[in-house]
Amino acid sequence: MILPIYAYGHPILKKRAQPITPDYPQLQELIADMWDTMYHAHGVGLAAPQIGKSIRLFIVDTLQSYDDEEAQQRGIRQVFINPEKVEEAGDPWIYEEGCLSIPDVHGEVERPARIRLRWLDEQFQPREAEFEGLEARVIQHEYDHLEGVLFVDKLVNPIKRKLIKRRLEHIRKGRIQLAYRMVFAERR
Ligand code: NI
Repeated sequence: MILPIYAYGHPILKKRAQPITPDYPQLQELIADMWDTMYHAHGVGLAAPQIGKSIRLFIVDTLQSYDDEEAQQRGIRQVFINPEKVEEAGDPWIYEEGCLSIPDVHGEVERPARIRLRWLDEQFQPREAEFEGLEARVIQHEYDHLEGVLFVDKLVNPIKRKLIKRRLEHIRKGRIQLAYRMVFAERR
């Protein structure tokens, strides 16, 4: 089932999300709904606060970002529950990000090149791995959602920050053309 995505300005996106336990109600349905919602909106990642649940869960699928051979080597399709950053490494690099909660806004953000993460998969099995490149980037963006942080809070260019102010205000008020269903902080 496709769920509405909470838009920039909604207070849930600013909250620190809480860890969950295996008895969290209807978790497998929630995860299935999150995949549906993410693919419908053509995203590569989606965090639970973006669908109105303030819990430490996000999903990432970078497979479609590559051709077949590369996807097998580097791409991931993974559920992350209660993730913990073990280590960040590598030279910080700048990359243009976007966010399903902030439609049609893009901007450059600087983040570490590599990240080592510990998390639980959808069966609550412990996992640990190191990610780099696009995977590290998406994971760090989604992890920030669990901390109540958005990429527009981290833009490297202060002029860009000013330029998007009006657009953010329009998103907050729901005065935008929609490609998918959203929940707004204030609606007209
Ligand atoms: Ni996002």
